[in-house]
Amino acid sequence: MEIKGKTILITGGTAGIGLEAAKQFLAAGANVIITGRSQDKLDAAKNIYPALTIFKSDAANADDAQNLYNKIEEMGGIDILYNNAGVMGKPLNLGIADAKHFEVAANEMNINYLGVIRMNNLFIEMLKSRNEDAIINTSSLLSYVPLNLAPTYCASKVAVRFYTVSLRNHLQLIKCKVKVFELSPPVVATEMTSGIDQKSITPEKLVNALITGIRKDKFIIRVGLSKLLYIFSRLSPWLTFKILNPKVNASLLQA
Ligand SMILES: NC(=O)c1ccc[n+]([C@@H]2O[C@H](COP(=O)([O-])OP(=O)(O)OC[C@H]3O[C@@H](n4cnc5c(N)ncnc54)[C@H](OP(=O)(O)O)[C@@H]3O)[C@@H](O)[C@H]2O)c1
Repeated sequence: MEIKGKTILITGGTAGIGLEAAKQFLAAGANVIITGRSQDKLDAAKNIYPALTIFKSDAANADDAQNLYNKIEEMGGIDILYNNAGVMGKPLNLGIADAKHFEVAANEMNINYLGVIRMNNLFIEMLKSRNEDAIINTSSLLSYVPLNLAPTYCASKVAVRFYTVSLRNHLQLIKCKVKVFELSPPVVATEMTSGIDQKSITPEKLVNALITGIRKDKFIIRVGLSKLLYIFSRLSPWLTFKILNPKVNASLLQA
């Protein structure tokens, strides 16, 4: 797929992977729109990359998403919707009753999974009307094996991965040409993973792989450890679970 000249909307584009993606898609000749919940972070991103279009919009909020759609429609629409916004709750011990279990899971599902469905549903007809268009959904290496420190986050990413397979298939059934990419990152050095002691890659390396994958129409883009973990989890789910969840991590679960 050609990137030059396309207009891309990146949700959660003010930090981490989303901000790096904004930089690289601009460099590749795309028009880039980013969203986020913090106006300060949006302004800071615009300061660094003045060519960006910024909109304050919460992916978990239906009114925000509708307003965003209306503004983007007025501007002439988008060719690529990149669902990047995501959150991970603090580690909790699910075996000890706590109202936070529901709060954390609801927040993660609302942003990471339901937010993706809402955005895709809003933009799908717009995308269908374009010449060459795509949706990028963000899953994770943690959609293959659960991490004890982030159980409901992992569940939200499994949901995104399964949903993405069905969305791609449903579009094919109606002979629709919208391309559906799944980006499955490994551990990437961003604010989200600052408390996780695992080997990480840079957002730059991840986004390089994403852009290469898009250009080659590679619809499932597993990067680095994500590729390995996918294979190992198929061969030995139990061993992969043990490697990802060393005993020492148990002490990090808050009571
Ligand atoms: N980092 C990793 O190792 C890793 C691995 C696998 C998958 N992923 C996935 O990759 C994506 C990006 O992760 P990251 O590490 O770059 O995270 P990050 O550094 O924490 O950045 C998250 C971005 O999303 C925005 N955001 C969060 N909630 C939002 C919402 N409800 N609506 C709109 N924007 C929102 C944040 O800005 P505001 O807070 O101002 O809204 C920020 O711009 C996520 O989907 C994550 O699950 C990350």
